[in-house]
Amino acid sequence: MNPIKLSYYVGRNFKYSGKVIGRSFLGECKSWRAKANDLRCDRNLGICTVGGSESDDLLGSEGDGIKYLGQDYSSLNIMVEHLNLTTEDVFLDLGCGKGRVICRVGQENIRKAVGVELRDDLVEIAKDNATQLAGRQTQVEVIRGDACDYDFTDVTIVFMYEPFGWKTLKRVLANIEKSLRKNPRSVRVLFSRTERFGVVLDMCDWLTPAGAIGQTGIREWRTAKI
Ligand SMILES: C[S@@+](CC[C@H](N)C(=O)[O-])C[C@H]1O[C@@H](n2cnc3c(N)ncnc32)[C@H](O)[C@@H]1O
Repeated sequence: MNPIKLSYYVGRNFKYSGKVIGRSFLGECKSWRAKANDLRCDRNLGICTVGGSESDDLLGSEGDGIKYLGQDYSSLNIMVEHLNLTTEDVFLDLGCGKGRVICRVGQENIRKAVGVELRDDLVEIAKDNATQLAGRQTQVEVIRGDACDYDFTDVTIVFMYEPFGWKTLKRVLANIEKSLRKNPRSVRVLFSRTERFGVVLDMCDWLTPAGAIGQTGIREWRTAKI
């Protein structure tokens, strides 16, 4: 049997330079199951976050924005469980897209969930979703803006689902560090899909790697109280 047919049957995805360029039959089944789960979770929250965005332009002051794709709910739920959120927490999703993550976190009893998003079409959708959220436990705020300009002073948890490239990421991390000097506190930084940019976070001497969250593809870094 040729290797392509064999991969198809044994359930391996086809990769080129580390990127998936084609899915096996089993890979395709897993992807449909995840999509069905995302639709079901959206329905439970009373929101709509599936699908992409209308335009794929790369925006932001560094021009390295990555297009919208929602964090899958199964990983998101594992992450929320892992975080043990408290009423002191201000959770920020940088590049919040349609607001899936902040809406899910908005069902927890925390101080506030905030999303920052660059694209106008996505900001409108995220705002509608935040308004419609079922089972809300806290304020869910959506801000239109560039992650580079955000003031992190009161944020305790920063989440990023590979929203932009290393140029923006470096500016964001420098601003978080600056905010620690202004308001010394413990901050947790969570990054999903760390293959390309995890190393940028590893290089921050004010952050300590706290490991992967299960099999979610999300890694955590923590600051010590300064
Ligand atoms: C991969 S999506 C993640 C969406 C969301 N966090 C989720 O998991 O459902 C990345 C998002 O970041 C936004 N984005 C890219 N660059 C940005 C920037 N500089 N400032 C704010 N948002 C940005 C994109 O428009 C996109 O919606």
